[in-house]
Formats: sequence, C-alpha cells, structure tokens
Amino acid sequence: QKDLTFAVTRNESAVSDADRAAILANPGFGKTFTDHMVDVCWSEHGGWHRPRVQPYGPIALDPAASVLHYGQEIFEGLKAYRHADGSIWSFRPDANARRMQASARRMALPELPEEYFIESLRQLVAVDGDWVPTAPETSLYLRPFMFAKEAFLGVRPAHKVAYYVIASPAGAYFPGGVSPVSIWLSTEYSRAGKGGTGAAKTGGNYAASLVAQAEAAEHGCQQVLFLDSVEGRYLEELGGMNIVLVKRDGTLVTPQSASILPGITRDSVLHLAEDRGHTVERRQVSIDEWREGVANGDIVEAFACGTAAVITPIGMISARDFTIGSADAEPGELTMSLREELTDIQYGRRPDPHDWMLRL
Ligand code: PLP
Ligand code: COI
Repeated sequence: QKDLTFAVTRNESAVSDADRAAILANPGFGKTFTDHMVDVCWSEHGGWHRPRVQPYGPIALDPAASVLHYGQEIFEGLKAYRHADGSIWSFRPDANARRMQASARRMALPELPEEYFIESLRQLVAVDGDWVPTAPETSLYLRPFMFAKEAFLGVRPAHKVAYYVIASPAGAYFPGGVSPVSIWLSTEYSRAGKGGTGAAKTGGNYAASLVAQAEAAEHGCQQVLFLDSVEGRYLEELGGMNIVLVKRDGTLVTPQSASILPGITRDSVLHLAEDRGHTVERRQVSIDEWREGVANGDIVEAFACGTAAVITPIGMISARDFTIGSADAEPGELTMSLREELTDIQYGRRPDPHDWMLRL
C-alpha cells in the first residue's frame, strides 16, 4: 500500500535539447508535454500498486472503462518553479494532495496518501527537470489525475482506478498576459448545484462550463462567471478560477459557497492580504452588490485567481443587459501588488513566511 518505490523507464525518443529549448521559449499553456509521465494503479483488493515513471504516451483503455461513460474522474493542478540557483520548487503541494483526497471522497474514488502524491511529483520532476523553464513568469504545470478504468457498465464506484501525473511547460494562461480580462456573466447556465460536485475538481464541472465559456467567447470575454444555481444572484466562480473583489477601504470580499472549488491561490493571496492588515470577508456576494459597488465607487478592483491564471485583473463584466467596469480598465493596484508578492514567494525572490514552498 505505501511502497513508494517507482520503477523508472526512460523515454528513448525524448525531445531533443534544441526542440525543448524552442518549446520553453514560448510555452503558452497546456500545449506541449514533457517526455515522461507517472502511472500508478489501484484496485479494490490490491490498494495502490505498480508505481511507475514511463515515457509519455497514449493510455490503452477498455472501451467499457467507466470513466468514458460515467465520468468518474478527478484532477489537480499545481506548478513547479525554477529558482535562481536552479533548484525546483512546488507551492503548497500538501494542499493539492488534500484537495485531491476531498475530490476523491466526493467522486467515490480511492484517496491517494499525501506522501504518495508528493512523491509522484518528485519522481516526475526528477526525470523531466530540464522541462522546468527559466524565463520570468514561466513554470512547469503539473497535472495529477485519477480515473475509473474498470470495464463494467453497471453504475457503481469502479474497483480499478488509475492515477497519472503529466506535466506541461506553462507561460501566461491568457494570451494578453496580466492585462485585465473581460468576464461574461452566465445567466442561462449554472456550473454546479446544491449538493452537487462543484467543490470537487472533477472533469464534469468543466464539461458543464464549456457552452457557457463558448458564449463568453462569442461576447468577446475570456472567462465566464457563474452565479449560484438556486437564486441566480450570488457570485460563485469563473470557469477555471476563483474571484475576489476589493473595496475602497482595502477590504477583500470573496464568495463563500459549498459549490465552488476551494482555490489554493485564493486562500494564499487572502492570507497575504491579512498579513498586511487587510480585512477579508468570505461571504455571499450578490451581482447587484458588485454592480452598485462599482457604480458608487465602493468596489474599486476585482481579480481572478488560480494556479493557471495566477492573479489576473478583471476589467469588465459583461451581462445580457448591463456591464460593470470597462474593458480598457487599468489593473488594480492592490491586485498587482498581491500578485507580485505571491509570485516573489513562488519564484524564491522573497522569504516564504508561511513555509509554503517545497523543494522537489
Ligand atoms: N476554480 C476553478 C473552477 C478552478 O479550475 C481553479 C483552478 O484550479 C480554481 C478555482 C483555483 O484553484 P487553485 O488556486 O487551487 O488553482
Ligand atoms: C488550474 O488553474 O490549475 C486549473 O485547473 C484551471 C484550468 C483553467 C487550467
């Protein structure tokens, strides 16, 4: 169960140094993958077994594998950062490990022990460390995921599960970098409902967001904002990131809801703000409060936050019959200063008072 010895098979047709350098010079987000992947099996009777690092490549699945039919799947996302001395670090991987366990409980998947999760990241970075880029604001995005692979069409938790980790060099998630994004307010679609899977990092939540995200794109917006599914009044989160508003007096306000993903970036940035003496309110926030707050000058900044997005200022909200803010707004001052503090910690440019960084 707890055997952490990974068998390593090197990729004989790994990408050349020159090709890798070209990819790392302009990584974008999620487009290219490293030479290896982690693969661990789980079965009802054998527990976690056969931990491996092997060449990156296609996975053979039985067509009846239950993930393909019923979507029993979870994932995580975190980054490996290169520090100035060349060492490679991750940010709060213990929090990702625990969130993956929480997602597993919700999706009736087995819980991967925290030390196993962290070891799987170490193993991958040990063979693919050259893929961690060095340019400012770049990193290696790590994507652990787990899915039901048992071939069985009855609807019940699978008895056979696979856990993988893949990695992808990453620059800015949004093509515009850190310039303010526009957000489309989804009124037709909800992302998650009461008692549903919104707090789990599971593929279905993202599948449910795609038509709304497409609607956002049609309206020239980079992300979609979802409201609560019961009253359609309270802010939830964006398709792939959390949301924070900043009031004129420096108070930060962020939605509290059982149907959003508890973001590690959001938790961290709110801690940093509290360390500076800002008040943080974790509570229900209505779209009307935002609209009126911007109109009367009470709400002065808003930002999106997540591993992929880091901290990205929000310039404008666009809804069917109103807009908030403007697309050419300047990035907020507090937004940008918190962004700098967070990334300085992540890239080892300033002390890490909360012990968030773990060397891989
Ligand atoms: N909300 C959603 C739907 C996400 O996909 C993400 C990204 O992982 C987040 C919030 C932010 O979470 P984190 O900061 O842990 O990356
Ligand atoms: C992440 O930030 O890690 C996510 O999973 C969000 C997605 C938009 C890439």
